[in-house]
Amino acid sequence: MANSVRKGLDGVVADETRLSAIDGDAGELTIAGFPLSELAGNATYEETLFLLYEDRLPTAEELEDFESDLAANRALAPATRAVVQAAGENGQSAMDAARMGLASASLARTDEGEDPERDALLAVAQLPTIVATYWRSRTGADPIEPRTDLSHAGNYLYMLTGDEPTQSEVRGLETYLDTVVDHGFNASAFTGRAIASTESDVISAVTGAVGALKGPLHGGAPGPVLDMLEETHDADDVRRVLEAKLDAGERLMGFGHRVYNVRDPRAAVLSEAAETFYRASDGGDEAFYESAVETERVARDLLSDRRPDLDLDTNVEFYTALVLRGVGIPQALFSATFAVSRIGGWTAHALEQLADNRIVRPRSAYVGEFDRTWTPIDDR
Ligand code: ACO
Repeated sequence: MANSVRKGLDGVVADETRLSAIDGDAGELTIAGFPLSELAGNATYEETLFLLYEDRLPTAEELEDFESDLAANRALAPATRAVVQAAGENGQSAMDAARMGLASASLARTDEGEDPERDALLAVAQLPTIVATYWRSRTGADPIEPRTDLSHAGNYLYMLTGDEPTQSEVRGLETYLDTVVDHGFNASAFTGRAIASTESDVISAVTGAVGALKGPLHGGAPGPVLDMLEETHDADDVRRVLEAKLDAGERLMGFGHRVYNVRDPRAAVLSEAAETFYRASDGGDEAFYESAVETERVARDLLSDRRPDLDLDTNVEFYTALVLRGVGIPQALFSATFAVSRIGGWTAHALEQLADNRIVRPRSAYVGEFDRTWTPIDDR
């Protein structure tokens, strides 16, 4: 094997997966055999999760059992609730709260010991409650207990405000959760797989994964996208605002991707969801949607003019910001809501890794010195 270093593991094929396939040139994403638009247009989050775990769609009866199993795992152990409330009172970020909450999620195990499938379900079920409990505490409000009669997406929205969400809010969020649930060997999924490969437990794998997602190069972009969209919405001249950013050496948030050389297929699904949602809204928000579409058009134009060598196009985060804002997710929870979806992918990756496991152990190219001799401390 050649000993060349591939920084960032760029282009390295580390293992097989049946969870998702990405074609970066054609701009296509397949989730467990389904083109993304087919899945996101139809599935509830629970159906998507079942599909990732079982590689097939559930029957009506199986889905009902799966939904109630998931719902039964929503309530936090008292110590988990205490730690995420402390994170809120302390002004820590939602991603820090997610990490602290997930690390202690094993306290809510209802049976003895570790079981990968049970732990996967537990982790997915607990995360929305962790994030919502954090948010309530951060905003000085009492936590809202999860309900078992609402869907995964519906219950998350309910726990944030105490109000039952509308059908179109639930559907908007569900489309988002389906759209970003998995994306090959991204940094967080790969982190989780590396942890699972040591035959550690699934709760440890998702705790590591959420730490990887926290970084601004991975899960942190939709917040800054919203800032940019608010700025262009309020501006008279969108082009001038975007040009000023590029002239100042800034990147346009929501554009560019390591894998896609064309418009991210998730942007297509989410822009449609955003259009449906904003056109149906009666709060005058249609203008915000229109200005975002105009911002995308001008940004693509500018990026292709200035960097024709690069194929910089819209990525998933651009319309994520619009959809999450529309369904009522506070900007401070954008990254954590990404985690609420992606934990489905992380757990499926951990289970897939365990089913045909070999410990992840790449090599490194040593670039340090050899044969140094020791200098006693008084002589240094
Ligand atoms: N706006 C302007 N210029 C850009 C942008 C952008 N959005 N993205 C990349 N470039 C330029 C860089 O300045 C760089 O130019 P240079 O060669 O003159 O230095 C060149 O394109 C290559 O950039 P890299 O950072 O090497 O590209 P990479 O593939 O590693 O980065 C990334 C991809 C991080 C997404 C990048 O495009 C970016 O920072 N985009 C803006 C932030 C963003 O939207 N992040 C969310 C990504 S989606 C996701 O990860 C879930």
